[in-house]
Amino acid sequence: AVERTFSIVKPDAVAKNVIGEIYSRFERAGLKIIASKMMHMSQEKAEGFYAEHKERPFFGALVEFMTSGPVMVQVLEGENAIKANREIMGATNPAEALRGTLRADYAVTVDENAVHGSDAPESAAREIAYFFSEDELCPRTR
Ligand code: CMP
Repeated sequence: AVERTFSIVKPDAVAKNVIGEIYSRFERAGLKIIASKMMHMSQEKAEGFYAEHKERPFFGALVEFMTSGPVMVQVLEGENAIKANREIMGATNPAEALRGTLRADYAVTVDENAVHGSDAPESAAREIAYFFSEDELCPRTR
């Protein structure tokens, strides 16, 4: 089925100047970017986004990293978009990411791992709504 998923190009990848490289991977895989913007997240915005990880030991470092510089946030649409994007990204820990995945190519550590992608339909819907209003989504008509 055609799905939507939420994606972030994290501060490390923006700093490496590979936004376009990452967008190309999405496009080559048939995923369409139907919304996109650059932003520098506030601490409050990042804490809210990662609320489910609040009790985890890495929460503080995660929020600090995600607010350390600008990110690109985008909505990807396509056939099985959630799983397709997770395959493009590779494992959360770049040491376990398969060759040719974004994390294998651009991430160095589990903390600074280049990209985020929704892991399920429920989180995709929640994450899209957390960053985009309905009128910012531009589904393709051709
Ligand atoms: P992300 O998909 O953005 O969601 C939570 C992030 O926490 C994850 O990517 C990692 O970058 C980061 N993180 C740091 N340590 C861990 C860990 N031990 N397990 C999972 N995620 C971690």
